[in-house]
Amino acid sequence: MKKRKTMAGAVLLAAAAVALIVSSSASAASDGQNRRHRAVLLPAVYVFGDSLVDVGNNDFLPPPAPQAGFPCGIDLPPGSPGRRTGRFTNGYNLADFIAQRVGFNMSPPAYLSLTPQVSLDLLSGRVGANYASGGSGILDATGNGTITLREQIKFFANTKASMTKTELGHNKVNRLLSRSLFIISTAGNDFSAFSYGRANMSDALSYIANMISTYLTHIKVLYNLGARRLGLLDAVPIGCLPGSRASSINDGPCNDASNSLAQHFNTLLRLEMASATAASMPGMEYSIASVYNIISDMISNPPIDGLEVSNACCGGGRLNAEVSCSATSNLCTDRSRYVFWDNVHETQAAYQRAVAAMFEGTAAAMYTEPITFQQLVTQKQVAPGAGIDLDHSSADLAAEI
Ligand SMILES: *[C@@H]1O[C@H](CO)[C@@H](O)[C@H](O)[C@H]1NC(C)=O
Ligand SMILES: *[C@@H]1O[C@H](CO)[C@@H](O)[C@H](O)[C@H]1NC(C)=O
Repeated sequence: MKKRKTMAGAVLLAAAAVALIVSSSASAASDGQNRRHRAVLLPAVYVFGDSLVDVGNNDFLPPPAPQAGFPCGIDLPPGSPGRRTGRFTNGYNLADFIAQRVGFNMSPPAYLSLTPQVSLDLLSGRVGANYASGGSGILDATGNGTITLREQIKFFANTKASMTKTELGHNKVNRLLSRSLFIISTAGNDFSAFSYGRANMSDALSYIANMISTYLTHIKVLYNLGARRLGLLDAVPIGCLPGSRASSINDGPCNDASNSLAQHFNTLLRLEMASATAASMPGMEYSIASVYNIISDMISNPPIDGLEVSNACCGGGRLNAEVSCSATSNLCTDRSRYVFWDNVHETQAAYQRAVAAMFEGTAAAMYTEPITFQQLVTQKQVAPGAGIDLDHSSADLAAEI
């Protein structure tokens, strides 16, 4: 059952959802190893994109790829598996909270961090992997030194080729992948790479059109590799990020010119994704989450429990955001009360609220379309072409694995 709605409706109702976001995640930063265990809903999660979801791939890349060194990861549970750094925030990021929603403890491991033991999980179609790279974008030219989205998908194609060489075989691998969740967070860095100063509006529109057509090409490749459950995180309000505001002469809460480019991209993405799915991706279930509206609403309607929405927690200078976060930066004390971790990234507290808004109740109905992330991960699928009901009950799933 799909619930269709318009962007206009989403925008109008968005402000009302702020209270819901807040109340649904009162213990923003207290999550972690103490969470109760839930049944795993899906075989695996595969994550692609940028620093909002990277869990450590860039730790393995030389400069100029951006590094998430200390104090990034300062609020991750002590003794948690893997490295404490590598996430571009103080604790868990969007990939972690989404993976928790479907029953995992955190994001699947960073692809470049895989040890032979963890690779066995990946090759069995369980758990998944995170291919995301901070600083990357949709376009190959974005994010010098990072793993581009195109390369991330190539890594996944290699993963799939290795999976099909195990005793699972081609058909079982395809069935496992069709039930797994694919997440992409991208586009923000493509806007950073775009030189606003020299551009006119027609340059900007053709740049965005190129972003969209390249993105759809990548999504079609993932579809051809077996992705059937796709969650897309749209472009963040780039003009509201503390780094952008700190360097802007505009003293308003956000830079509207930058934001309008992100909004244009987000509107086109919804239109093009709907028509591409109808035209050439039968059986594809997808949801687009408006990270744009979720973050904008946190800023424009600061919740009553007093989140700091202007200053970054870690950095320096104006808004604590003229200087990037590093070990020698000014670091806020109560990190759970800040929306922004540094000049461009949100805190764990903000990410947890954002993911609640993609999955839960009235907020999810307003911030996601055409279906909520909860619907995306729970509703029955129809195998493309074959008409086989791919039930995902856990007994059936256990039989698959
Ligand atoms: C990418 O980074 C390398 C290493 O810092 C540098 O030599 C090269 O000029 C950069 N390329 C672009 C296109 O900026
Ligand atoms: C915008 O700039 C491009 C060059 O970057 C130029 O070819 C085009 O004519 C300009 N368009 C307008 C409307 O100024």
